[in-house]
Amino acid sequence: MKTSGGSDAMKRRAGESAAETVDDGDVVGLGTGSTAAHAIRAIGARVDGGLDVRGVATSFASRELAVEAGIPLRDLDEVTGPDAGGIDVAIDGADRVALGDGVADRVRGTDRVVGDLIKGGGGAHAREKLVDSAADRFVVVADPSKETEILDRPVPVEVLPSARGVVADAVRAAGGEATLRRAERKDGPVVTDNGNLLLDCEFGEIPDPEALATTLATTPGVLEHGLFVGLADEIHVGTAEGVRILE
Ligand code: 5RP
Repeated sequence: MKTSGGSDAMKRRAGESAAETVDDGDVVGLGTGSTAAHAIRAIGARVDGGLDVRGVATSFASRELAVEAGIPLRDLDEVTGPDAGGIDVAIDGADRVALGDGVADRVRGTDRVVGDLIKGGGGAHAREKLVDSAADRFVVVADPSKETEILDRPVPVEVLPSARGVVADAVRAAGGEATLRRAERKDGPVVTDNGNLLLDCEFGEIPDPEALATTLATTPGVLEHGLFVGLADEIHVGTAEGVRILE
């Protein structure tokens, strides 16, 4: 699995720390990316030792890894809906985690304590958002290279293939610049697990992620964007010394 940003040892510490918070009997959302992969392997090791859990994959890649790690899987629609028990905890990575004062001010007085995120570096954010937002507890796993005062990276936006021009125009009208994501070693665009395309949308610094999230979410042709605003409950940051837990 592709590794981006900080060191693999830090990512492993974060993933293993989050995996320790999973309880017997839990339904667990399994995130995508190299940091979440460490959590999946650590949960698999606990399953080997007798932990009884069910996993809900957020991508084809996380599904493959979970099968390899021996984690029994359920489909999202088997565990959600009126007669289902839901998802107890989701563990997922992020490309950026905003921990600036603006975030603290906005969430003060609520029970959601920590940061807004940019996700979708792996192009899996549509299903990740479904699973992460459905979970009773959403645990983010990251390394210090992901932390920022203010979100400042391009926002991945999954679009219906025929909508790529329409959405690029809407992004430009909102002050951004959309670039079609291309496959690294293939001559063509990246196609998501859902058969759609990805636009990486550069807005510079994003002082009001909530407003931008609303703009993107209401643009026709957008399947999902990578701004995760007010969703995280807990962040495990793997460091050179250990793990910092923000909650
Ligand atoms: C995939 C994601 C990943 O969680 C994000 O890109 C972080 O990946 P990594 O842990 O490999 O740095 O959002 O869509």
